[in-house]
Amino acid sequence: MPRPLPLLLVLIHLLLFALVHASLDSAIKLSGKLYFGTALDPRHLSDTRCEPIARREFGSITTENTLKWGETQRVRGNFTLEDAETVVGWAMGAGKTVRGHALVWHGGVPDWVEQIQTAEEMRSVLQAHITTVVSRFRGRLYAWDVVNEVFNDDGSWRESVFFRLLGAEYVRLAFRAANAADPEVKLYLNDYHIHHQGPKLDAVIRLAQDLRAEGVPIHGIGSQTHLVVADGNTPGMAQSLQHLATSTGLEIALTEVDVRIPQPANRRKLREQHGDYEYTVAACLAVPQCVGVTVWGISDRYSWVDDSEETRGYDAPLMWDVRYVKKLAYEGAMKGIEGRGRAPRRRRG
Ligand code: G3I
Repeated sequence: MPRPLPLLLVLIHLLLFALVHASLDSAIKLSGKLYFGTALDPRHLSDTRCEPIARREFGSITTENTLKWGETQRVRGNFTLEDAETVVGWAMGAGKTVRGHALVWHGGVPDWVEQIQTAEEMRSVLQAHITTVVSRFRGRLYAWDVVNEVFNDDGSWRESVFFRLLGAEYVRLAFRAANAADPEVKLYLNDYHIHHQGPKLDAVIRLAQDLRAEGVPIHGIGSQTHLVVADGNTPGMAQSLQHLATSTGLEIALTEVDVRIPQPANRRKLREQHGDYEYTVAACLAVPQCVGVTVWGISDRYSWVDDSEETRGYDAPLMWDVRYVKKLAYEGAMKGIEGRGRAPRRRRG
């Protein structure tokens, strides 16, 4: 008659194993992070194959498009927030935390904003837009991507109507307005190509240090981390993310992770994508200040990669394929979590 203890331990171990692997979010929470998230639009919630995956696997939702200026104030003075309410309402009802994206971005700016001619009018419009939208969701969001994609890859300021009229002041104004409208929500600066050393990472660090020195309320930096499979340009990702966190004294997050594949996708590339997801998730696990990982969507059926000029010829960046079959990339992300922050393996390049 086996002693009851070993059998009990085996059962407990099996139960724990099942719990840990119940979802990406439960696994990453057990590893001490806040969330494993995804980006959602209303169309994903009305897709009966997508919604259950969002509900089961993820603990944080980023509003992919519904809180962008082009969706929330397409016509001056007329705020259309119903679609955002749909996403935020679903997320809160499902017990998810919510990241709002993005209050100020050069992408999708309505024509009436592009046509503003004076600094004075831009200040007033920015203040009103941010105050109205942030106030509406006060107390319901974990974080806002307040300003998105401020710099060019060479570290220079990106041209936009905001920068043209106000210079760097537009960033300070945006963060202060958001904080005044919701003093509790975390305020992030979000950008891409800052997961590796370079002039853009340096520029983001300098800006964050300046903002903090001036007492501007900023709480986090989002590294979008859009990758190309086996592109090799991200050796030392964990080290770069640690440098970002240590140099700014802020929390960081991977905010838009996906790994696009040069078409046609094949088994070799899908295996490499598995490794890239493992490497990237492990990089967040290796940095104590990295609070979580958000992938930029669930299924390849909906990814931005299919619709963008800059990604023509690429495909299949996410963890579920167009038929909602789990890909090797999912196992890679789970292995990245299980590595529990061991320095991720160096990639080729
Ligand atoms: O909602 C309309 C729909 O009514 C219309 O029929 C359809 C046809 O044009 O367009 C729909 O809007 C599209 C929207 O996605 C929702 O699907 C816009 O045209 C399209 O431009 C928009 O693309 C988004 C893109 O940002 C531009 O805003 C992508 O979904 C979104 O994944 C992508 O995400 C960005 C981040 O915000 C910032 N970082 C880079 C990332 C990838 O570009």
